[in-house]
Amino acid sequence: MADAMSTLLKRLACALVLLGAAGLGRAADADANLIERGRYLAVAGDCAACHTAAGKAPFSGGVAIASPLGTIYSTNITPSRAHGIGAWTQQQFARALRAGVRADGSHLYPAMPYTAYARITDDDTAALYAYFMHGVRADDTSPPRTELPFPFSVRMSMGIWNWLYLDGKPFEADTTRSAEWNRGAYLAQGLAHCATCHTPRNFLMAEQSSRYLQGASLGTWYAPDIRPGKPGWDRAMLVEYLRTGHARNGATAGGPMLEAIDKSFSKMAPEDIAAIATYLNDLPPGQRATAPPSAAVAVVAPLPRGDVEALAGRIGAGERLYRNNCASCHQADGDGVRGLPALRNHAVLRTPSADNVAMAVLEGVWPEDGQGMPGFAGELSDQEVADIGNYVMATFGGSKVAIDAARVRELRAGGAVSPLLLLARVGMVAAALALAVVVWQWLRRRKRRAGIPR
Ligand code: HEC
Ligand code: HEC
Ligand code: HEC
Repeated sequence: MADAMSTLLKRLACALVLLGAAGLGRAADADANLIERGRYLAVAGDCAACHTAAGKAPFSGGVAIASPLGTIYSTNITPSRAHGIGAWTQQQFARALRAGVRADGSHLYPAMPYTAYARITDDDTAALYAYFMHGVRADDTSPPRTELPFPFSVRMSMGIWNWLYLDGKPFEADTTRSAEWNRGAYLAQGLAHCATCHTPRNFLMAEQSSRYLQGASLGTWYAPDIRPGKPGWDRAMLVEYLRTGHARNGATAGGPMLEAIDKSFSKMAPEDIAAIATYLNDLPPGQRATAPPSAAVAVVAPLPRGDVEALAGRIGAGERLYRNNCASCHQADGDGVRGLPALRNHAVLRTPSADNVAMAVLEGVWPEDGQGMPGFAGELSDQEVADIGNYVMATFGGSKVAIDAARVRELRAGGAVSPLLLLARVGMVAAALALAVVVWQWLRRRKRRAGIPR
């Protein structure tokens, strides 16, 4: 009897242990799922673009981000307790991600796109936190400190900036729209932060919401207007472009867009990219770009071989330089060769600035897989880059947009710096003063009220 009893008890205990283990297993699965979801969201948010420096441990920071105000270095966001965010709570992480405030209460610069990440839901924030705490290896790299000139060195000033410009509301679904539209809106506005690059900024560097996605200069590259209704683009091409960097209309991505595609968009689920395209396609169409009818674009007759130098006197500098440096791949008539892209009617020639052509010539274009283009920064002078840019824009794009050597010099140096800095400084000081006056008045009113006997 006692024996039977103890066997029963043993069995019961066994069953309980097994049950418990199964429960634990489920919990571990749930954790693994959460971490995996966080990993995917980190890809969608392209955290690595800014937090992983070439040749360094993932997410250990130190990427130098040029801003018109000076260089901003990204931070170590691995779970290192000493140099990363290993000691941060989920609340502290969420506050940095969505409100731009660090664990110690100091403000982040909006080079970290928290104004877009503010849309991220609580659930997704939890998944990202799980990933950065448990899916990323701790690394003790200590990245260089960011030292901006006064008054931006005072991080408090970003508090005023946030007060003026940060819309901290997480994404709210529009129930009158489809689930796909909402998914696209959530991703495009939040993690994929299209507006960070494609929306122009005001003199205080805040996005102008009235000009959402209408095209903006990033200092060097120009991120074009991406509202629907652009000649030569439809939803299917947009999907293709976001997934591969190429589209049937001949578009090829370069610069920061290529980087975003290589590291982020091409690694996202096809349904998420389709959702982004659905959302974008549903925005109010933009002004039709003044694209020339393709008939107006000259077809250049190929010159007889070997005549280039001899003809140098007859053809302009731009054409000569183009034939010598570019025609081997893009052909003299701009039609491309052996899978290399045509320049004739290329989408990049329809932007209201020749900066991207000059940037492509200076830096080259390096897709992760596929054929690349070398940069010519070391070989061509500012004037030569401008001459080629103008030749390509006019001859193959029928564009009247031009570029001069002075602008190429600025692009080489990382974009126009001083006027914006000056403007922004004046603006910041003015904003700070205005706020100080408001606070002072408010305090006086409170004091006066406190003095009123009840
Ligand atoms: C466009 C560049 C960029 C992208 C994309 C980006 N970050 Fe950042 N992040 C920065 C910079 C720059 C800083 C430091 C800013 C400063 O010093 O004020 C920063 C700071 C942070 C901080 C604060 C860390 C600290 O120690 O102060 C966290 C947390 C963070 N980023 C998380 C993320 C996550 C998660 C993602 C992806 C969802 C992401 N970032 C994507 C540029 C970026
Ligand atoms: C880091 C900055 C950056 C981000 C983020 C970014 N873009 Fe871009 N995008 C650019 C730049 C720069 C170009 C121009 C590339 C070129 O000329 O090769 C561009 C080009 C494009 C083009 C081609 C437009 C044309 O007329 O040629 C499309 C479409 C586009 N982006 C869509 C998007 C969408 C959608 C998102 C968000 C899911 C996004 N981009 C996020 C910088 C960015
Ligand atoms: C070795 C071959 C090669 C040479 C030489 C070359 N290119 Fe390219 N070019 C390419 C490839 C390949 C791409 C597109 C890469 C891709 O698929 O994303 C490209 C893309 C471009 C683009 C589109 C950039 C964008 O961001 O959309 C422009 C403009 C361009 N080239 C202009 C030039 C000019 C001007 C020259 C001469 C100074 C030149 N290329 C020389 C191969 C070449």
